[in-house]
Amino acid sequence: MKKLFTTMCVAATLGILTSCGTQTAPERSYNEGINIIPTPASMQQQDGRFKLASGTAFYAPTPEAKTIAEFFAAKLKGSTGFNLAVTDSEAKSGISLLIDPAMDINDEGYRLDVTPQGVKIQAKTPQGIFYGMQSFLQLLPAEVESPTVVKNIDWSAPCVAIDDAPRFSYRGVMMDPCRHFIPVENIKKQLDVLSLFKINTFHWHLTEDQGWRIEIKKYPKLTEIGSKRIEGEGYEYGGFYTQEEIKDVVAYAAERFITVVPELELPGHELAAIAAYPELSCKGEPTTPRIIWGVEDIVMCPGKEDMFKFLEDVIEEMVPLFPGTYFHIGGDECPKSSWKACPACQARIKAEGLQGDKQHTAEERLQSYVIQRMEKVLAKYGKKIIGWDEILEGGLSPDATVMSWRGEGGGIASALQDHDVIMTPGGNGMYLDTFQGDSKIEPVSIGGYTLLSKVYNYNPVPDTLVTMGKDHYIKGVQANHWSEYMYTTDIMEYRMYPRMIAVSEIAWTPLAKKDYKDFERRINNAYVRLDGHDINYHIPQPEQPYGSCNMVAFTDSTSLTFTTTRPETMVYTLDGSDPTPASTPYTEPIKVSESTTLKIRTVLPSGKMSPTRTIAVEKQTLSPAKTVETKTPGLKMKMSYGTYLKASELDKATDWKELTVKSLHDIRSQVNSTESMRGVEQYGAIATGYVEIPEDGVYYFSSNNDEVWIDGKRLINNEGEVKRFSRHDASMALAKGLHEIKVVFLGHIIGGWPSLWDSANISIRKADQEKFVPIKPEQLFY
Ligand code: ACM
Ligand code: ZN
Repeated sequence: MKKLFTTMCVAATLGILTSCGTQTAPERSYNEGINIIPTPASMQQQDGRFKLASGTAFYAPTPEAKTIAEFFAAKLKGSTGFNLAVTDSEAKSGISLLIDPAMDINDEGYRLDVTPQGVKIQAKTPQGIFYGMQSFLQLLPAEVESPTVVKNIDWSAPCVAIDDAPRFSYRGVMMDPCRHFIPVENIKKQLDVLSLFKINTFHWHLTEDQGWRIEIKKYPKLTEIGSKRIEGEGYEYGGFYTQEEIKDVVAYAAERFITVVPELELPGHELAAIAAYPELSCKGEPTTPRIIWGVEDIVMCPGKEDMFKFLEDVIEEMVPLFPGTYFHIGGDECPKSSWKACPACQARIKAEGLQGDKQHTAEERLQSYVIQRMEKVLAKYGKKIIGWDEILEGGLSPDATVMSWRGEGGGIASALQDHDVIMTPGGNGMYLDTFQGDSKIEPVSIGGYTLLSKVYNYNPVPDTLVTMGKDHYIKGVQANHWSEYMYTTDIMEYRMYPRMIAVSEIAWTPLAKKDYKDFERRINNAYVRLDGHDINYHIPQPEQPYGSCNMVAFTDSTSLTFTTTRPETMVYTLDGSDPTPASTPYTEPIKVSESTTLKIRTVLPSGKMSPTRTIAVEKQTLSPAKTVETKTPGLKMKMSYGTYLKASELDKATDWKELTVKSLHDIRSQVNSTESMRGVEQYGAIATGYVEIPEDGVYYFSSNNDEVWIDGKRLINNEGEVKRFSRHDASMALAKGLHEIKVVFLGHIIGGWPSLWDSANISIRKADQEKFVPIKPEQLFY
């Protein structure tokens, strides 16, 4: 259990700390020790400290060093208030930035010596100097990242000698503005933060089924039409980057030694472009950008020469915007059904002699043909292609780098074929669109469960490749932020941080130096740095065993147990007030014998707190069972075709169709849902009857339906929510026997998720059991 702060001043977040004036110096325990992330390759701590002061000057004898010195002088002025001079004459007590192209060190490496007299950073390149400065800033108090002056703080750094260089040359982050747009200002904010942790590649996923996000002057409809979609809720969603904005971001990234790798998805995941120019697809039929998640089967038509002309034109406009060597051509998840049925595609297969064999179908060979043509186009501009690991199918292009995302298999196979590899396997923790806590209380995500420790413990070099002497083909590692469920940039940040910081350490730090326990400690310091950038990072919330629940019923007395996914302090109240850092710390299960409202949240060493969980803890008597004269298996149901976003809208429905259903599943199997959902008719339904409860007790209910009512009480209300991973579980005390049940199902698309894709089940768990089990058809009557 971490020590708690007691004074208001200390308890405050960074922003408030600055307003604490000159009262007692805050404790700031998170600033103790060495907090550099990623951990350097080699470091010796020495006696003494270097004190930064208003008289400290940068010694920057070369123009490149001067640029970096000015960058950091401006930043340090912001938080310390010091006007640090930048000079090319050696300063006595200063920060020397010395670039020596002859230095025997990795291009990105640096040597950092901090002594009481001064700070010396030596490197072969400006990038090395930049990283040396970032390490030096991480030796200073975390408040150095504050955008405003922080008073009452000791701006000193422990003396160290550091020799550092990265484990991998590619240390990447992918952001996806296609599913949900990321404004330029927010992209820059992330680049600011990622550069603190020595991330050097930003993979910018710019084109998708759900939106085309880059201005292409020759094809204006790509942004006029392809950047907008009408969501299932009925409103328009859109956004794109002008070429000027792209140049601005690329330059901003370059100042932070981050290379931008653009991604132009092809030949799949391109429905937005096809919506703008329907002739790009096999059938050429009019369509609209996709409004649901998943894999789209309308793809580009490689049978048509004009499709290649289009891609070449787009590439011609994109290439000058991105000076880096890599160009990402996508290549993933391209269903081949339309190619199979397309005369032009089949003619291309024939003309190019793309025969299927035991390993690959003719259509996979066609995909490979597309990628190889694109590789040649890009090679003319001096670019190297990267593609998702599907580019292995049908044969790898000669010079392609493979991004291994469906596990490590694609990466291993590519390295064995002497191709470079970037590891980004979702199952190994590199997909940061997943949950990092209990899905019943966390914001809805695509699924999966990736704790910080899992991310941290990933090693991008598989043993097989070491054994085979092919490990040098692993050029690096990347984390991906697919944004289907990142509805806002706040949620994107919530998913990115702190997990992306763990990625920086796996990408940089030698394997033997990794230490998760120490990383957990350093994260508490990094959090305060993130506060300086106003980042909405994830703080582990108090969670209940067997599924968190905000409506806890009991009959005599109960006790509530909480854990967090990392060792942080929890505090709570029972008087309805919001917990503060000074509230009662949680040390053991909370005993309750009368109805109450429990509020509980996590507090970090900085005093920053997680959202508050408000839990109604309600003393109940068992709701009595009903006696019925006759009972027939199943439920009665009435349904009305149409899209209903809210249960109250059903009040207006007039054309009810009445029927009976055998199971809860049947509530939503009245139409067939499909992967595209095109032409699928939506409906709303109300099913009623009785559910048989096996024995007296408190039961927890979980469901993705819009509403679940038991004995006339609305137990679950998921109104307006994305219908996945029920986030509104509730419990109720029920006597053995039959109880009235009412289920409201609404067929709609909210947040890109068709509710028809869910199961209509309701799962229940008796309070003393660990697992939820679906209500069985045998338990339902009318
Ligand atoms: C991917 O996640 N489809 C690369
Ligand atoms: Zn075709």
